[in-house]
Amino acid sequence: MATGPSYIQYTAFYAEVEAASGISRAARDVAVGTPPSLATAVGVPTLRALSTAFYTRVFAADTPPAFRGLFANVTATEAAARQSDYLIEALGGPPVFTASRGAAALLGRHAPYAVGEAGAAVWLRLMADAVAEVVVGGEDAAALASRLMVFFRWTAWYIVLGRGLVNPCRVVGYRAKHDGGA
Ligand code: HEM
Repeated sequence: MATGPSYIQYTAFYAEVEAASGISRAARDVAVGTPPSLATAVGVPTLRALSTAFYTRVFAADTPPAFRGLFANVTATEAAARQSDYLIEALGGPPVFTASRGAAALLGRHAPYAVGEAGAAVWLRLMADAVAEVVVGGEDAAALASRLMVFFRWTAWYIVLGRGLVNPCRVVGYRAKHDGGA
């Protein structure tokens, strides 16, 4: 019977994510979990605006086509709604992603797409620009932006390096349909 990755594989995996992202799991947990939660401190409307600003960039004409092509099966509006649902829940707000989509399963949900280092670099650049546009005002804006980017950077590398851990039975979607791209 096939089994999932072992504890030892996960320990090695998290060490790889830390080496690649420069962020430990503990640092990620501090950035996300320090009260008030990011969902509260940044605010749900701003997280919604952040995802809209991010996906506006994803679909912009000057975004590298190989990266834009990953999103060929979704509209900016749909994708922003899903991403912001996830961010609201993951950053300490109400469980709106679970309600609309089910378990987060970030690795399984990204497994159908060819998400590699080049794609992560573009994703993080577009997200950093979106954060700079949207998370503004208030004396703690810079600190909140930096906490958000710690979370994004760690998670992006978790997704890139976690591809090998995905149980093929848990791929959400059809791998062949989406392979190709960045
Ligand atoms: C590493 C670079 C990344 C790439 C290239 C990437 C690419 C994609 C693609 C192609 C989709 C499918 C579009 C859709 O159905 O909405 C998607 C969905 C999604 N991504 Fe990413 N992503 C990356 C990083 C991240 C990160 C860092 C997060 C969270 C912080 C994230 C959260 C999500 C969520 C929540 C969805 C929607 C999943 C669903 O509802 O099925 N992604 N991503």
